[in-house]
Amino acid sequence: MSPRTNLRRLLNAGRRLVQQDTPRASTADELRRELERFGKWVYPFELADGVVTPLQFDWLAEAHETRFRMMLPEIDALFDGRWDEVSCLDAGCNEGYVGFEIARRGAKAVVGFDARPQNIEKAEFVKRQLQVKNISFDVANIDSLTPERYGAFDLTLFLGLLYHLEDPIGALRRLRAVTRELCVVDTQVLRDGPSVTTIAGMEEVETNDILAVLEEPEWDESPLAAMTGSALVPNKSALFTMLRHAGFRNVRQAMPYPGCYDRYANFDRVIVFASV
Ligand SMILES: C[S@@+](CC[C@H](N)C(=O)[O-])C[C@H]1O[C@@H](n2cnc3c(N)ncnc32)[C@H](O)[C@@H]1O
Repeated sequence: MSPRTNLRRLLNAGRRLVQQDTPRASTADELRRELERFGKWVYPFELADGVVTPLQFDWLAEAHETRFRMMLPEIDALFDGRWDEVSCLDAGCNEGYVGFEIARRGAKAVVGFDARPQNIEKAEFVKRQLQVKNISFDVANIDSLTPERYGAFDLTLFLGLLYHLEDPIGALRRLRAVTRELCVVDTQVLRDGPSVTTIAGMEEVETNDILAVLEEPEWDESPLAAMTGSALVPNKSALFTMLRHAGFRNVRQAMPYPGCYDRYANFDRVIVFASV
């Protein structure tokens, strides 16, 4: 089964659950007309029979399916049987796709935020169309993530955002401050390479924990990108050290499976579960 068909199957199952007792917000034709103003999408939401949001890039379907297969079993193993007590934060949620997947499991409340208003506008559109009650969205930068503003969450999702930030350590600390049980991190990482040596105090120190400055000169042109022109990208060792220093315990990596999206197969991206 192709990634796109498989994903469609997952989403169909979701629609059945979400829409059990709720009428469609629009007819398929009205919906197609409404969708025209949004252009291309990052996620293939099936909003009505035969009406699926058109993807910006073909590879997105395969990437989404791989991520779901790598992270959802661990999330389900932890929360199945008590979803109605579970709150979830989706940081940098884009159009809200992963948050919707958690909402359809019956989570008590899901909150998604993203710095780009146009992404949140799409997320709100999907919420209205699918009549999902247990999810809400906010336009916000992760710099403003505090327990005072959002409260605390049993599950936090930090997916595809760390490597777009100038202050990834600060972001992890802010996430830790609002995480009660589990934080799932999905990030690009540097490939393994030689260690580096520096001076710390009077000592020469050798370390494998390395971050690179990556420039994103066209950051303002993509709905998936950073909010500034540069970001710090860690290698896996640095990621684990940063998570530990942010206060997470029991940090473990999700393993790729045969045939998965090659960024994960090649360990250019990793998914990590970090417990509190
Ligand atoms: C690569 S996408 C990942 C989207 C989604 N979390 C996922 O994994 O499918 C990065 C998202 O983070 C948002 N973003 C970038 N910098 C941000 C920041 N400083 N604060 C909040 N959101 C940010 C972007 O607008 C984009 O939607």
